[in-house]
Amino acid sequence: MSPLIPAEWESIEAPVIRTEPPGPRSREILGRIERHAYPGLADGLAPFALASKRAWTVTDVDDNVYLDLASASASVPLGAGREELIAPAVEAMRRFGNEDSHALASELTAELGERLLAIGPPGLSRYDLALNGTEAVEIAVKMMRRATGRPVVIGFLGAYHGESTTTAALGAEHAEISRGLRGLMPGFVHVPYPHPYRSPLREPRPGGSGDATVDYLRDHVLFHALDPGEVAGVVIEPVLGSGGCVAPPDSFWPALVELCAEHGWLLCADEVKTGMGRSGHLLAVERWAVEPDLVCLGKALGGGVMPIGAVLGSERAMGFDDVPTGSTWSWLPASCAAALATLDFYEREPVLENVRELERLAAERLAALRDRFEAIGDVRAIGCFEAIEFVRDRETKQRATELQHAVAAGMCHRGVIADSSTTSLNLQPSLVMPVAALDRALAIVAEAIDAALAADGG
Ligand SMILES: Cc1ncc(COP(=O)(O)O)c(C=O)c1O
Repeated sequence: MSPLIPAEWESIEAPVIRTEPPGPRSREILGRIERHAYPGLADGLAPFALASKRAWTVTDVDDNVYLDLASASASVPLGAGREELIAPAVEAMRRFGNEDSHALASELTAELGERLLAIGPPGLSRYDLALNGTEAVEIAVKMMRRATGRPVVIGFLGAYHGESTTTAALGAEHAEISRGLRGLMPGFVHVPYPHPYRSPLREPRPGGSGDATVDYLRDHVLFHALDPGEVAGVVIEPVLGSGGCVAPPDSFWPALVELCAEHGWLLCADEVKTGMGRSGHLLAVERWAVEPDLVCLGKALGGGVMPIGAVLGSERAMGFDDVPTGSTWSWLPASCAAALATLDFYEREPVLENVRELERLAAERLAALRDRFEAIGDVRAIGCFEAIEFVRDRETKQRATELQHAVAAGMCHRGVIADSSTTSLNLQPSLVMPVAALDRALAIVAEAIDAALAADGG
């Protein structure tokens, strides 16, 4: 028996589709939401209404059970309903209720801050409290500007950092996210993410930095458009999350770190999605031995039980007291208790080993899918994060987004849910999912691709 799986999860059976989704009860509930909610909400909803969740499964109100490869936007790392994470949060809720930890702090704040700095990269000695990933990134950007006295932050085309005004302007996953505000938010400059499959910057320049993206920054952006003395630093996802599980080539990090050092830029790793084990390391920067000045955390930090975010930083990046940050519900005691229990679990149990096993299986299965289907341009697997990019033509790499959405819909009808983003089909299982369950889910992905291609006439 795996130490990662409580006895009551051993007998889970999934998927089980009893009624073609959306079943009658789902239709009724979704109809009520659609009638009155902001229409943009209804656009993104799954075609069923949620009844309950357990471990790596989701059950709808018509009694269908799905394998969950979305994990609540990667915010539920250790399975849903894990009692050893819920109990401490409930206990803290009973003992403290809500408290604004910016005003009345408990020992939980002290302990969580110390524990986070202990797992963070070397040289980080300060932490700040955030409600979630969005707030963590907001805080990091403010800190970078305050620490350097410089206004411009460099972000990457393809990156996602949230949907508040600052984070939407920093991010650039797709243009819709910043529509209506891009022109109102100066202070961000974007360069292509070092995307081995899609970046237009392929080859480093002879005699250059050794990396094509950093050469472009140096030779073009900094030469023509941007004085490096105006730049506070760089915010980067170590692996593109919503943008589709993309890791930079090995040449990128040393060249970027050198550029940051040369101009006194701060390097901020947005680990909201990659952090807490999803990459196979507690923090993804460990995978490439990168030592950033700031780290943003969120999502999985609360164990999938409570919302919480955090910013870790060096003395240079955060050692001052005049930047107002946070909000009423950041680090409420129950969130701290859930985060501490989550950290305990990672310390005690072989979570990361399981992640690496799942990565091995996924890499093998996805490579086979790419060999089998001409409509797949690229596949990627890093830890418990996998992506499939569908193309109309392997030569032109033109995106086949409709096919991708059709595959995701077919998966859902067969009992597997995932995140079909604008750029790729993203599969993000629970870090404790058994290998056999992921294997079953990936077989269903293959069936859904077959069916979608057949329906498309090919
Ligand atoms: C890399 C990254 N940063 C920040 C955020 C924002 O986090 P949240 O939506 O939990 O506030 C996300 C959310 O998807 C993310 O993936």
